[in-house]
Amino acid sequence: MTDLQWWQREIIYQVYPRSFQDSDGDGIGDLAGITRRLDYIRDLGAGVVWISPIFPSPMKDFGYDITDYRGIEPMFGDLDDFDALIEAAHARGLKVLLDFVPSHTSDQHPWFVESRSSRDNPKRDWYIWCDPMEDGPPTNWISEFGPTTWNWDEATGQYYLHIFLDSQPSLNWRNPQVQDEMLETMRLWYARGVDGFRVDAITHIAPDVDKGDHPPDPDWQEGMNPSGRLSKVHSKNQPFGYETVRMMRRVTEETPGNLLLGETDGTLDNVMSYYGDDLDGFHLPFNFRLLDIEWTVPNIRETVEAYEAALPEGAWPTWVIGNHDCIRIASRVGARRARLAMTLMLCLRGTPTIYQGDELGIPSAKIPPDKVQDPWEKQVPGQGLGRDPSRTPMPWDDSEGAGFTDGDPWLPIEVPPDGPVSAQDAGSMLAYVRRLIALRQSSDALLQGAYRTLGAEEDLYVFAREAEGERLVIALNFADTPRPAPDGDTVLSSHDATGPLVPGEARILRT
Ligand code: NOJ
Repeated sequence: MTDLQWWQREIIYQVYPRSFQDSDGDGIGDLAGITRRLDYIRDLGAGVVWISPIFPSPMKDFGYDITDYRGIEPMFGDLDDFDALIEAAHARGLKVLLDFVPSHTSDQHPWFVESRSSRDNPKRDWYIWCDPMEDGPPTNWISEFGPTTWNWDEATGQYYLHIFLDSQPSLNWRNPQVQDEMLETMRLWYARGVDGFRVDAITHIAPDVDKGDHPPDPDWQEGMNPSGRLSKVHSKNQPFGYETVRMMRRVTEETPGNLLLGETDGTLDNVMSYYGDDLDGFHLPFNFRLLDIEWTVPNIRETVEAYEAALPEGAWPTWVIGNHDCIRIASRVGARRARLAMTLMLCLRGTPTIYQGDELGIPSAKIPPDKVQDPWEKQVPGQGLGRDPSRTPMPWDDSEGAGFTDGDPWLPIEVPPDGPVSAQDAGSMLAYVRRLIALRQSSDALLQGAYRTLGAEEDLYVFAREAEGERLVIALNFADTPRPAPDGDTVLSSHDATGPLVPGEARILRT
């Protein structure tokens, strides 16, 4: 067996800072709160903490709209709190990843304020400005969050490009000054002790406006996300985007051992392309396949096999079943199968990322209309696109405020069927996930053994992980009725079952 890098061995745990732990009673989580809860993450068995953006921001997109890449949002704390968090994490053997948002800033970022102040401002070309076409926008592009990607600036008579909200203008990475500034920012955080970055929206970093209009997407149908109506062939996955990843990778390599994880949505080929031709792109391009497909056994089998087959030589896989942008896994697959879903992700080959609260089985919450926060939901209400349901605060205990806050939580708190953390006893989802992680972290077969499908009939998915001297069989019963269990000695059962697999059970056997 080969020695693994830490980012191949460890599990990543995603913290959504607004919703993890409040320490000052304002109803919003903060850095001191995260530091207080590091033992929880370590005891879960995760080794890496990825924290969604914590930089100064008007919070139009909850931190994905930054006004200063080198500071800390006061709501979350200050640089001293940040240093304390890094120190406390490292003291516990935890690595820390920050969220780098290079493709766009806030429209309140001083660079953009300058850029829009006049056509000849030195920062004009830090963003993407275009003249109108026949009194309309330069292209027909649709934003990720709603209508056009273009916003008219009356004062200077040009449009600026925004792939997301109109308050998130796209940076012009073709400008070497932008590159220098952003890469230097990465260096500063590395020098401060961070162990890597999750890079946001990388597929959108190098839109090529000169290529003109987008054609209709033939796969789009009425009722789907309106943003997908056109095929984003000129704005996404452009050749220069890969060059920017190589730049970020080179900076990352300046400190040996650091990690670059990319938010790479799109087709299987797209995802693979972000490893780089010579593996000089992301160490780990996020693999969202399990978020994209309908969860049937044949679909999952095909997805896993196609992904394994497509990986370039030497590339390390990743899996994820939840994040702050999508419906909670416990709601997608139903409470009965939440443990099964976690078992699937943690037993596949590659680095898994657990989204905070999925280890408790938190479902997506119903957010009353007067509590809606997500700008996307506000822009296209009632279409099921809002992300608040998966961003509710962590339920730590059964006190008022759930141990999350002494104040009024920014979103209602959703308590999972097994209760808050303090109530999750030996038979709970949390206890099961802890046992599952402990098994994974101590098993060569699960950490680096080969994957092999053994069966995928109807509702029963069975696969093996095989390393020298160790072979584990993982059986997942998606059905509502019992299914025969494979032969072998049970190492772990999600439902403490023996005999046939009970409905929704995940069982790991040694053979
Ligand atoms: C992806 C992030 O995960 C999402 O939350 C955000 O709205 C967009 N990128 C824009 O930064």
